[in-house]
Amino acid sequence: MVRISAIHAGEVSPGLVRCSGWVKTHRQSKNVSFIELTDGSSVAGVQLVLDPKLSSYASVAGEISTGASITCEGELRASPGKGQKFEIEVSSLSLIGSADQEQYPLQKKGHSLEFLREHLHLRSRSNTIGAVLRVRSELSFAVHEFFRDRGFLYLHSPIISTSDCEGAGEVFRVTTLPIEDPSFSGKGIDYQQDFFGEKAGLTVSGQLQAEAVALSHTNCYTFGPTFRSENSNTTRHLAEFWMIEPEMAFCALEGNIAVAQDFVQYLAKSVLERCHDDIAFLSKRDWVKYDLEELIRHVGESDYEVLDYGEAIAALEGASRSFEFPVQWGMDLQAEHERYLTEEHVKKPVFVVNYPAAIKAFYMRSRDDEPETVSAMDLLVPRLGELIGGSQREERLDRLTARMEEMGLSLEEYSWYLDLRRYGSVPHSGFGLGFERLLMYFTGMQNIRDVIAFPRYPGHAKG
Ligand code: 4AD
Ligand code: MG
Repeated sequence: MVRISAIHAGEVSPGLVRCSGWVKTHRQSKNVSFIELTDGSSVAGVQLVLDPKLSSYASVAGEISTGASITCEGELRASPGKGQKFEIEVSSLSLIGSADQEQYPLQKKGHSLEFLREHLHLRSRSNTIGAVLRVRSELSFAVHEFFRDRGFLYLHSPIISTSDCEGAGEVFRVTTLPIEDPSFSGKGIDYQQDFFGEKAGLTVSGQLQAEAVALSHTNCYTFGPTFRSENSNTTRHLAEFWMIEPEMAFCALEGNIAVAQDFVQYLAKSVLERCHDDIAFLSKRDWVKYDLEELIRHVGESDYEVLDYGEAIAALEGASRSFEFPVQWGMDLQAEHERYLTEEHVKKPVFVVNYPAAIKAFYMRSRDDEPETVSAMDLLVPRLGELIGGSQREERLDRLTARMEEMGLSLEEYSWYLDLRRYGSVPHSGFGLGFERLLMYFTGMQNIRDVIAFPRYPGHAKG
């Protein structure tokens, strides 16, 4: 059996081949019929040429409609027709599974992305989502290659955890308490009686565990699903998203920034190299109103800017336009601010650094010269805003405990984390890159729900 991508890549010699897949279109006429067949390996399908009198075909021709699955055998040859290099002159065909034309939701006309979202189990058959999923798969391998080439240990951080790393109260509870039992009131829950003997949930980040392993293996990274119950129905947030979190010992904020830039540039170059046809296809979608390939090339080649948070606020205050959220020192940057900074102020990806401590998580390192700020960095990119969040970590036990107490965190609950400052503490840094955000950026998709096969967001967890 040959894959259709191998035919397009010229890896299959002309001659007898066997091919299986799903029908995109079926055009019948008196003398010759055509089927466009896809198998998910490339955007372009392969054209099957059929003699209507061929008995294995004639007996099932009425059932060969969009969505049906078939296997065929025939002669692969150069195509005289326009639009394709190769075609298969079919000598035998079997219908494997029909798809009732009256019922099959994805008839051959184009479908809106909203419509496709209502049919998650079928939408990977659409050209657009099909291409996005191939890019996603290729980029996943590129992520691992980047870190492997640099000697980072790949860490599987736990999915279930008792610590809310970001402290934003967005943890999904994991429990075996009898919540469906009518006699279970839920009042005065004793978590000691729960499965883990304390309050546990789905992880919002693998960072704290990555810090532990960076303090034994120097450099490590996680790449896995993370969960946040933030009820934000935006085009940039999911309840379940994949994050890549490198953590580096003996590394300060500058080193962290350098790795983050190298990483994004590496991925930009990889996607252009390995997913050329898919990116070319995606760049022609109606909603991509700019040169997508040029944008990715720019990200892969330009040096990113570094802007102090204070400078960023000054730039926003000096902007000739107004913002919905008023600008003042101490505020968290909103999407509109982020986009102004990267798209209009510096016109390229920009690291905003040294944020006010008050708007950042407990683990970020206090800056000695400006203690109201922390050694944090966010990477903002055009058309998207925040792609990466990271920081140097507070490695000094006294500073860290003081900060945690100030924020009302239980030192006892985090005592394992504090041990890392008690035994062989070193300066260390890391960041988190939201994989779906990166995919939006590189595929030109406008809604984060369209860059993951089965998106999870408020009201949606089916299938
Ligand atoms: O800025 P965040 O919250 O940082 C952390 O979680 C740190 N523990 C990372 C670290 O230093 N190791 O999240 C990091 C990135 C964001 O920049 C964004 O790209 C993505 O994760 N992200 C989301 N992506 C999709 N849906 C959501 N709800 C997201 N929340 C964050
Ligand atoms: Mg962030």
